[in-house]
Amino acid sequence: MKIVNKIEEIKALNKELKKAGEKISFIPTMGKLHEGHAALIKEALKYGKAIVSIYVNPLQFGKGEDYDTYPRDNDGDIKFLEELKADILFIPLENITAETATFVVNPYLSNILCGLFRPGHFQGVLTIIMKLFSAINPSFAFFGLKDYQQYIMIKKMAEDYYPDIKIVPVPTVRDTGGLALSSRNLYLNEKDRKHACNFYKILSNTASLFNSGEISAEKLTLFTTLELIKNGFHIDYVKIMDKELAYEKKATENGDILLSAVRLSGVRLIDNIFLVRTE
Ligand code: PAF
Repeated sequence: MKIVNKIEEIKALNKELKKAGEKISFIPTMGKLHEGHAALIKEALKYGKAIVSIYVNPLQFGKGEDYDTYPRDNDGDIKFLEELKADILFIPLENITAETATFVVNPYLSNILCGLFRPGHFQGVLTIIMKLFSAINPSFAFFGLKDYQQYIMIKKMAEDYYPDIKIVPVPTVRDTGGLALSSRNLYLNEKDRKHACNFYKILSNTASLFNSGEISAEKLTLFTTLELIKNGFHIDYVKIMDKELAYEKKATENGDILLSAVRLSGVRLIDNIFLVRTE
């Protein structure tokens, strides 16, 4: 695996790859890689040369958030990527966003769901992705569905500014208890980690209620909320929306999505589930 630290180097390398007729698959990450990232990389390798970036992006952390303590493990990540046979790692050694004067915003999507609880977060995400897309200019970019709001916003930004980049969604990877994998799960102690599995169980129970005929979004979100509270979760939000996140639903339809963010012992967890009628 080739390791590149400078934006100019990655730009030059991409030009060479394109000249050689290669398709570029891009997987942006913040490191401390786990099986969720492995799923993105395995998928990416099916489409072209896999370029992974590791950059803990200061722009997407708010005041009082965990930028300084965010888990970092460059040596472990390099080993992990070599085993997966990723082609190129772009890992800037300095702050590549310090001089940023222009920011990317989606005024509607930045201010719903997680955006209400993390002001500035999505502006930071879109801005770094814009910067990385401009440098790497991939044919494909891969994003996990656990961060559904992020995926939709990046898809929309690509539609607006990078119509040649195909944004590929990859299903959430879960541990054996159902907890969605996240680098931040490391903040949970063992007892909380086991308990956190109830989050997805509760969302799944709501999906079963929908499948058995309940369509009132108010009843479905109330059921979810009460179950989460009963199980000791502090709730940021529980919402049912259409799959493009254009509006909140009153009458739930097949293919809508239930999204939630909760806190357990101070650790923030997000997850979602599509509401599907199987009949
Ligand atoms: O999902 C993440 O890890 C980050 O938000 C991303 C997409 C790498 C941007 O920093």
